[in-house]
Amino acid sequence: MAMKYLALLSLLLNLAVLFSIVPKTTSEGGGYGDDCGDQSGNDVSNLCSAAEAIIFSRVQEAVLDDSRMAASLLRLHFHDCFVNGCDASVLLDDSANFVGEKTAAPNLNSLRGFDVIDAIKSDLESVCPETVSCADILATAARDSVVLSGGPSWDVQMGRKDSFTASKSLANNNIPGPNSTVANLVSKFQNVNLSLRDMVVLSGAHTMGRARCTTFRGRLQGATTSNAPDASLEFVQSLQELCSGSDSNATLANLDLATPATFDNQYYVNLLSGQGLLPSDQNLVTGDDQTLELVETYAEDVVAFFEDFKNSMIKMGSLGVGTGMNGEIRRNCRAVN
Ligand code: HEM
Ligand SMILES: *[C@@H]1O[C@H](CO)[C@@H](O)[C@H](O)[C@H]1NC(C)=O
Ligand SMILES: *[C@@H]1O[C@H](CO)[C@@H](O)[C@H](O)[C@H]1NC(C)=O
Ligand SMILES: *[C@@H]1O[C@H](CO)[C@@H](O)[C@H](O)[C@H]1NC(C)=O
Repeated sequence: MAMKYLALLSLLLNLAVLFSIVPKTTSEGGGYGDDCGDQSGNDVSNLCSAAEAIIFSRVQEAVLDDSRMAASLLRLHFHDCFVNGCDASVLLDDSANFVGEKTAAPNLNSLRGFDVIDAIKSDLESVCPETVSCADILATAARDSVVLSGGPSWDVQMGRKDSFTASKSLANNNIPGPNSTVANLVSKFQNVNLSLRDMVVLSGAHTMGRARCTTFRGRLQGATTSNAPDASLEFVQSLQELCSGSDSNATLANLDLATPATFDNQYYVNLLSGQGLLPSDQNLVTGDDQTLELVETYAEDVVAFFEDFKNSMIKMGSLGVGTGMNGEIRRNCRAVN
């Protein structure tokens, strides 16, 4: 108990230093809760001014310890928002009488970072009880992960609510799979009102993190059609070797082979040389002229990529929010109150 108190005290002392470098939350009355007419009461950044610094400091600590965690936290926000909006449904644990989203195909043995979110939530509950939702933590941690990896920053609007429910079937249906064609991808994004451009630019998140052999087996056949302009023969052979063992399904490869822990536009450069890891990644070059054109733009112009990425993240981060969805602020992100 005393230890925990001391740790919290030292965290709070560190915050004074952190405040100067932490990205900012929007505080000028733009919070998602504002539509119910109780502005001050819903402005999280007024109610818990330390929230952003606490989240940043925990994410920073986690990423310093494991650089892949930045990718994992970014992906958690995506998998949350695509299923009934950004409401932290992805964080609910299964229990005897509740089926959450964690065992859905895109998530099982794949999502990571839950412990980092728990640690942030625990700090926030000590400092400002029941004030910052788990969904806001996910949105902010995703932004901080991008910033800490060298990417752009943006204001995160606060005021999301946490859901009472989750949907395994919607997690299976709404989140696109790695064998998706461009048409599949466009349709899954359109289902949540995101455009083809949003899809191409958000796929740029694959500039960091890793994937299991089981997700990119569809790429291993590339070597048999060695003349195909879409496949780098050497690259495909290296993947075949990596994934050849009988128990290689869980073996990992970097989504961006060149700069796997940096948020940059290298992902698009890789695609143009046939070195995209997932079939869905490489399809952006081979499957459609419009997506190819955007890939070429972002490969050439990192400023355009960063600008579009942050705009699309803000769009994705507002899915299902402010639409009168009822919800709560969970005390523990893994269970409803
Ligand atoms: C466009 C459709 C998308 C498909 C088909 C897709 C698919 C995948 C797959 C199969 C993996 C590997 C999972 C594993 O092996 O465990 C992965 C990883 C990842 N995805 Fe996506 N994804 C898509 C869009 C996105 C978006 C929109 C974001 C975020 C904005 C994102 C962020 C990531 C990150 C950062 C990783 C690495 C995670 C880690 O290392 O823990 N993806 N994705
Ligand atoms: C997409 O937009 C339509 C029309 O504005 C709206 O009815 C629907 O709820 C939106 N869907 C999502 C997932 O935001
Ligand atoms: C993708 O397709 C390949 C065959 O091209 C198959 O081996 C693999 O199991 C499929 N992966 C998924 C996740 O559907
Ligand atoms: C690897 O995954 C494939 C499907 O993606 C499955 O058919 C196969 O049984 C798995 N192999 C092992 C050893 O788990």
